[in-house]
Amino acid sequence: MLKSEEVFKPGAFPDYTYVSRKFASPNISYELRLKQALKISGCLTSLIGPSKMGKTILCEKVIGFDHIIEVSGADFSGNADFWEVVAARAGLPYQGEFTITKNIKDEYQDEGSGRTEKFVLTKDKVINYYKEKNYVLVLDDFHYAPDEKRLQIAQQLKDAIRREFKAVVVSLPHRSDDAIRQNADLSGRLSLINIEPWEEQELKEIAIKGFKELGIEISDAIAKNIAVESLTSPQLMQYICLSICTLLESDEKKIERIDESVLKTAYCFTTMNFEYQDVVKVMTKGPNPRGKSRTIFETKDGKHLDIYGLLVESLAKNPPIMSLTFDDIKERVDRLIKPEGNKPGKQALKDSLNKLQELLTGREDIYRVLEWKDGIVYITDPLFLFYLRWGRES
Ligand SMILES: Nc1ncnc2c1ncn2[C@@H]1O[C@H](COP(=O)(O)OP(=O)(O)OP(=O)(O)O)[C@@H](O)[C@H]1O
Ligand SMILES: [Mg+2]
Repeated sequence: MLKSEEVFKPGAFPDYTYVSRKFASPNISYELRLKQALKISGCLTSLIGPSKMGKTILCEKVIGFDHIIEVSGADFSGNADFWEVVAARAGLPYQGEFTITKNIKDEYQDEGSGRTEKFVLTKDKVINYYKEKNYVLVLDDFHYAPDEKRLQIAQQLKDAIRREFKAVVVSLPHRSDDAIRQNADLSGRLSLINIEPWEEQELKEIAIKGFKELGIEISDAIAKNIAVESLTSPQLMQYICLSICTLLESDEKKIERIDESVLKTAYCFTTMNFEYQDVVKVMTKGPNPRGKSRTIFETKDGKHLDIYGLLVESLAKNPPIMSLTFDDIKERVDRLIKPEGNKPGKQALKDSLNKLQELLTGREDIYRVLEWKDGIVYITDPLFLFYLRWGRES
């Protein structure tokens, strides 16, 4: 009998719950698209998609564990040479030493028993080695490579793909992909693949597949409820399903079906894995008020919040949505406040959203949870919104 942790894998390749998705148009699968891209010799594949949407898993599925060589943008943060890293990952020492043992009775007998020579593999050897072994380099999380390195890497790749070296560069949207997608040198030499957020139906499939493997019945309505809370992220779906199994102790006793009563606990339980307390704190506090006191608004449920507190609350409300127009936000904020209460004006809300954005972009990656631009608030990290909905004591 399979264990729940073998079926639901939020952090690794999901052998039993892998779901294949299709593009809306043309109606072909992501797997086929990536396969096709990899067949075009002389082209570099640029795979872009929001966080936790299955970019790495797609590469692993299509290329296979025998041929994929995964390198992260973060591997280039030190002084590491591109080809040295690429060689090392494939098990090929780029630089090293070997000892030539000389006969002791050698006529010179000058340096003891041996002589050490350094060798350096050339870039050509690395490229040939990859070709020989049918390896595909996946340069994952390219946005983690330092700014100044990204262009150098793009240059190296440009040269290598011409010699039929196969590579996929994986990155987040609207970020540091410029080194690849905006690089004039690479134009006409790129295969572009954009991964879209997951639809409810696709997310449901993960739960339906997985619980079937475990011999547990799940209704369509419950699968849908979980899919909605998963906020377009297959990873959240996997996390929540695993939490349900853990709560029900499904590996220890026979569970017939999933009951709706477990869901809320499972959602709260799942947030224990996420660390967004500080992000929420920073957002709720807003920028330094520099001695000025802010207007306090009274909410329907008796809380006293300033405008930043209201904004954070408004994001967490039902229905869970990853992109909200300004009018949505304004309406949500108004709805939070007591009917007779005084409400923040539009301009004040816009100003606060601008400040919030400023506050978050200046910080570490984990704080980059939303983007406010062109009149829309985009939540860029589904795990953050999930935490906001289920991870705070209310
Ligand atoms: N096709 C799929 N079917 C089922 N589950 C999937 C699929 N793709 C991804 N997942 C789930 O989502 C998790 C995250 O996927 P993955 O690591 O590929 O995302 P990512 O886009 O590379 O994220 P990041 O931006 O953090 O690198 C996987 O560990 C798996 O649990
Ligand atoms: Mg990844």
